[in-house]
Amino acid sequence: MKEIIAQLEEKRSAAQLGGGQARIDAQHKRGKLTARERLEVLLDKDSFEEWDAFVEHRCTDFGMEETKIPGDGVVCGYGAINGRMVFVYSQDFTVFGGSLAEAHAKKICKLMEQAMKVGAPIIGLNDSGGARIQEGVVSLGGYADVFQRNALASGVVPQISVVMGPSAGGAVYSPAMTDFIFMVKDTSYMFVTGPDVTKTVTHEVISAEQLGGAVTHSTVSGVCDCAYENDVETLMMVRRFMNYLPSHNREKAPYRPTSDDPERLVMSLDTLVPDNPNKPYDIREVVHKVSDEAEFWEIQPDHAKNIVIGFARMDGHPVGIVANQPMVQAGCLDIKSSIKAARFVRFCDAFSIPLVTFVDVPGFMPGSAQEYGGIIKHGAKLLFAYAEATVPKITIITRKAYGGAYDVMASKHLRGDVNLAWPSAEIAVMGPKGAVEIIFRKDIGDEEKIAERTEEYRQKFANPFIAASRGFIDDIISPHETRKRICRSLAMLRNKKLENPWRKHDNIPL
Ligand code: HXC
Repeated sequence: MKEIIAQLEEKRSAAQLGGGQARIDAQHKRGKLTARERLEVLLDKDSFEEWDAFVEHRCTDFGMEETKIPGDGVVCGYGAINGRMVFVYSQDFTVFGGSLAEAHAKKICKLMEQAMKVGAPIIGLNDSGGARIQEGVVSLGGYADVFQRNALASGVVPQISVVMGPSAGGAVYSPAMTDFIFMVKDTSYMFVTGPDVTKTVTHEVISAEQLGGAVTHSTVSGVCDCAYENDVETLMMVRRFMNYLPSHNREKAPYRPTSDDPERLVMSLDTLVPDNPNKPYDIREVVHKVSDEAEFWEIQPDHAKNIVIGFARMDGHPVGIVANQPMVQAGCLDIKSSIKAARFVRFCDAFSIPLVTFVDVPGFMPGSAQEYGGIIKHGAKLLFAYAEATVPKITIITRKAYGGAYDVMASKHLRGDVNLAWPSAEIAVMGPKGAVEIIFRKDIGDEEKIAERTEEYRQKFANPFIAASRGFIDDIISPHETRKRICRSLAMLRNKKLENPWRKHDNIPL
């Protein structure tokens, strides 16, 4: 027995070493941790239970039968983050460049299936050269097997991808199908086709970093939700992020006791909105001030900044925040902001996280670029997402709520549960100037008359009272009461039950 145990330990040590010390040193030299070191940072101490450490590939082409490395380039298993179970896989770049092939994919699929059965999130640490070239089409099959499980797990358990090295070709599509993508700045990149193929096909010369680095994806494309400086910071942030999420779709998001009084009044909010309706203010200030301990986890903070999304807690309970940002493009809705917010609303709804929406929106962005880009369809995504959402929905209109955008932003008509307005709210079909220039077109040119009509329109319609008189707004509140009213509303809604009609699935405009 002793001998067998010794053999086992020997094999385990070999598996621990992955592709060998030289490749581990190379990984470190690039500023990257190894697959196992990453799991040590991500998971609670001594919580990791590894599966399939002895799995090897069965490929016999290109001399592969000579190079079998236990584990086949991915470390899989389950462990805990702040005491809550998660399933993890961590691709080992030191073994065949972390490339994915039959055995590697089977390991990932196995843990995904188990995670779905027991109801625990799946976190993938991606660091891979893509499909293992030596295994050819078998590798492609392996990817598709993972994609299939990504689709099945979607909305069942949270799926988080952490891109910590290359993620090229088909390798991007598993992360893309998960709920959130974290990236490490400077050492990770994602693209469907890399710089070389890009140059051949389009003659465009571009670096990997420019094409698909963390900065590109967290600013331009919006593929990346959160980007951090290095492996350790990124993994520590994933640990914190998980505190906002339930483990599965039949569980409520985790409550965290707070000493922040839910009835706390925030007097400074009374002077936040400028008198001049064209002057911006930072909506994030409202979000921070009304949230527990002023904590707000912003998602995609540098992409489509005209809308702000993220998680906060109210009286200890996680909520999803969606807020128009008057500081950027006056907070209007456009293609990118609609897509950004729609996906977030759907995540929150899938995992029973209540939505708190702050509205200051002058409408949809006009122009051919938006129309040609399909703002009709993309704007409809956000509209659809809010309309189908059955979670508690609380809406606070701080200033403008004009036109179609008023309807879209969790209005009463889309089953908003509690719709409140600040006295500064302007709820109307459009802004006073635009409205007057349409209904009094004949007066255009007569500055005095237009100004008079505009003021008349403003007095009559640019306020919350008409909407309130119809019951579209449940109450007009002083800004300083906002936190108190949100917390009370959430408490009232804690046992809310609402179901949509049966169907196979809906058909959101994609
Ligand atoms: C097998 C691979 C590999 C792969 C890397 N390696 N990618 N082995 N299959 N796809 C191996 C290398 O041979 C090398 O082995 C080790 O990993 C490290 O690779 P290097 O090239 O030395 O590292 P680096 O210079 O950092 O470059 C990393 C890289 C590059 C940019 C990822 O390796 C690369 O371009 N790889 C190929 C990427 C690719 O085209 N993949 C297929 C994409 S298509 P040794 O033994 O020397 O350490 C695809 C289709 C999927 O994924 C579609 C699904 C729908």
